[in-house]
Amino acid sequence: MIVAIDGPAGAGKSTVARAVAERLGAGYLDTGAMYRAVAYLAVRDGVGVGDGDALAALARRHPPVMQPLPGGVAVVVDGQDISRQIRSADITAAVSEVAAHPGVRDVVTALQRAVLADGSWVLDGRDVGTTVWPGAELKVFLTASVTERARRRCAELAAEGTPESIADVEAAIAERDRRDSTRAASPLRAATDAVHLDTTDLSIAEVVDTIAAWAVAARSGART
Ligand code: DC
Repeated sequence: MIVAIDGPAGAGKSTVARAVAERLGAGYLDTGAMYRAVAYLAVRDGVGVGDGDALAALARRHPPVMQPLPGGVAVVVDGQDISRQIRSADITAAVSEVAAHPGVRDVVTALQRAVLADGSWVLDGRDVGTTVWPGAELKVFLTASVTERARRRCAELAAEGTPESIADVEAAIAERDRRDSTRAASPLRAATDAVHLDTTDLSIAEVVDTIAAWAVAARSGART
């Protein structure tokens, strides 16, 4: 079965999707990591983030591969593990613009569909229930208030030893939301048949339990 989780930056999608995948015995596909890999290639090779044709050609020439490891999944390009590099602040700042190009999205979407063609998967992103896999048995749209998403991100940054002010983080998240949801190609939006879940006042465990229960119900053919 395929469980598609969409939502804005910082709603907790990747933590939740990973845990739900483990619970269901399914694979986890982080679609944002593949756009981050293309942004990494752009920076590495000096390709402008505004040049959609060059970026699409770059992604075709160096397709990001999601390589399963015992403790998770590595993002690999040209045989190099770039899982850590794609989380840097400059890649995070560049990735929305890179992901807005229709040519880039076509290449990355095709790679994602090839992964999903076999087996059971939980995937998360911005367009996974609307574009990547519209036939998913369960689609979830995960949200949280901007303030709560900024608070969570600040806690992560502080834990990583790189604290930032909540105001700066909140402004950056709001800007990324705006770019992701107003782009012409496959913008961030909920599928019409997605179940909405606001996580502002929920713990991760509560969100995981809820989605896993919905997935089990969907797998057995019941309505959510
Ligand atoms: O989930 P993330 O922050 O790692 O995603 C990085 C960027 O990739 C985000 O700004 C939007 C884009 N993205 C997208 O356009 N479509 C997806 N399915 C996943 C991510």
